[in-house]
Amino acid sequence: MSNRIDLVQDDMPDFWYNILPDLPEPLPPPRDITGKSIEVLKKVMPTEVLRHEFSSESKIKIPEDLRDLYFQVGRPTPIIRAKRFERLFNSPIEIYMKMEGYTFSGSHKINSALVQAYYSKIDGVPFVTTETGAGQWGIAVALASTLNGLKSKIFMVSASYRQKLYRVTMMRMLGGEVHSSPSNLTKVGIEMLKDEKKRDGSLGIAISEAVEYALENNGKYNVGSVVNADILYKTIAGLEARKQLENNGIEPDYIIGVVGGGSNYSGLAFPFYKDYKNTKYIAAGSLEVPKMTRGEYRYDYPDTGMILPQLMMYTIGYDFIPPPIYSGGLRYHGVAPTLSLLMKKGIVSSRDYDQETIFRYAELYSRTEGYIPAPETSHALPIIKEIAEEAKKDGKKRILMSFSGHGLLDLGSYATMYNSSS
Ligand SMILES: Cc1ncc(COP(=O)(O)O)c(C=O)c1O
Repeated sequence: MSNRIDLVQDDMPDFWYNILPDLPEPLPPPRDITGKSIEVLKKVMPTEVLRHEFSSESKIKIPEDLRDLYFQVGRPTPIIRAKRFERLFNSPIEIYMKMEGYTFSGSHKINSALVQAYYSKIDGVPFVTTETGAGQWGIAVALASTLNGLKSKIFMVSASYRQKLYRVTMMRMLGGEVHSSPSNLTKVGIEMLKDEKKRDGSLGIAISEAVEYALENNGKYNVGSVVNADILYKTIAGLEARKQLENNGIEPDYIIGVVGGGSNYSGLAFPFYKDYKNTKYIAAGSLEVPKMTRGEYRYDYPDTGMILPQLMMYTIGYDFIPPPIYSGGLRYHGVAPTLSLLMKKGIVSSRDYDQETIFRYAELYSRTEGYIPAPETSHALPIIKEIAEEAKKDGKKRILMSFSGHGLLDLGSYATMYNSSS
């Protein structure tokens, strides 16, 4: 078999998978502490996205126009068997990478951005707002808005805004208006700018700004992770992967990936969850933002400005200000409620790795497979070493990994790692 497994366009699934009806117990509902936050959601989320957020249907049809947009930006994406990387471990493992970096925007984020922009357009608004950490989501929203004939206003975490000039430029080329967050465009931003410790920003602050701006100016807010609807749209990757592996008689022993808010990992893993009970599910995050290994499972705000309803999730606190790590996409304080519930039930286990470790793995991957991973994506690579050790004792293990994005716009961060070690 070749190293590349493709899916033809006609075989791309024509539905998204909703895990809500298949969860081991009902998902704790959002909690409205202020008495206003559910109203806020209703106003700022596109109508159809809000309906999907609480839907109990397990399959939701993808409109034809959206299927066309998916094709245009590079779907279906291939699975690449990383044989050269496998050899490093001297162990009977097979690694199957679902290559979301092969899309136009360079990551899995476009899978949901296209859908939310499409439904925002149907609601008749002229623009959408969003937050972005490292910029992958912002790029996806700028691209999706352009393809749907909308403007986009993007609040980008200040620490990343300074580090990721090319990402900012890419958003601007695609028509996005990008603002460093905290900004002076919103009440939340102005408040945060008064506190020196908060000036580097966080995803939680950027979310509050994007929601407030949409609310005050009659736009729609497009959310980049965490919520059920965003994950629903990102299941297109897992549904494709399942077909690709099943067409080739491959059953994964492990499904691995990284967690910022939880969307790429859930997007890949959820479509397997119901039928692949013997598969082990492992998700990795950043040790500098250790919400999975050191967080608590409790209700917390998804945003620092406390505008949105509280969610039941693993969290290290909505006011946690993470260090300015290079994997900006992993700086979020919480984990998607659906994924958190599976973690709580012991179905998904978690690991956290530090920046230095993942940089070494990113380097090894680039030098064997010839493809530079995003620093976020690279956080899942150390899990492979652990599985390889197990395979040496127990025999062959097949690993499916969410290769959430390429690192071609992260070279500045990688350059800093080289400079600091030379
Ligand atoms: C390449 C990449 N992978 C993973 C993530 C983590 O986010 P999520 O957990 O929502 O997939 C991000 C977030 O920006 C990202 O850019």
